[in-house]
Amino acid sequence: MTEPLVFASRSEADTEAIAQLVANTLTPGLTIALNGELGAGKTRFVRALCRALGGREDQVSSPTFVLMQLYPDARIPIAHFDTWRLGSADEFQLIGAEEFLHSSDWLCLVEWAERFEFLLPEDRLECRILHVSETEREFQILGIGPKSSEIIGHLSKTSGQL
Ligand SMILES: Nc1ncnc2c1ncn2[C@@H]1O[C@H](COP(=O)(O)OP(=O)(O)OP(=O)(O)O)[C@@H](O)[C@H]1O
Ligand SMILES: [Mg+2]
Repeated sequence: MTEPLVFASRSEADTEAIAQLVANTLTPGLTIALNGELGAGKTRFVRALCRALGGREDQVSSPTFVLMQLYPDARIPIAHFDTWRLGSADEFQLIGAEEFLHSSDWLCLVEWAERFEFLLPEDRLECRILHVSETEREFQILGIGPKSSEIIGHLSKTSGQL
């Protein structure tokens, strides 16, 4: 597990810039576990990542009621999950989530990941979003496992660009 990289966001524009930087380091087959309280900005960050990857970010909404949304048009196809309303691990399996989580083609973005951590790949990025004030957030991003640690290595080299 790497040390977390910390990014301060003072506005949604900052969050877009952070997402752009993160997106530049991402490769297919990765999972990002997104954690943070209600309204922290998990969905907002997904939208920014989707835009950065050339997907149709206008389609990104909270998938709270559908559990899963796919953005196959992005440069790396994105599967977006929200486990908030997930009643059990079986439900996650029923919607076919595992196929995406263990695929080498898709980027998986999982809101409220900590609720069903055991369903996620062991090698994953963790992104915790802290609510600092109405307009400020803190992003803490770390890697668990070799593939994700390498991504964090690339990200730390470019983080000075912000
Ligand atoms: N610096 C910032 N970065 C990101 N979002 C911000 C920022 N400042 C304000 N916001 C606002 O915070 C809100 C974040 O909402 P969002 O739906 O992304 O949260 P969430 O973590 O997905 O919540 P939920 O747990 O309900 O799914 C949005 O209304 C967004 O406009
Ligand atoms: Mg959300």
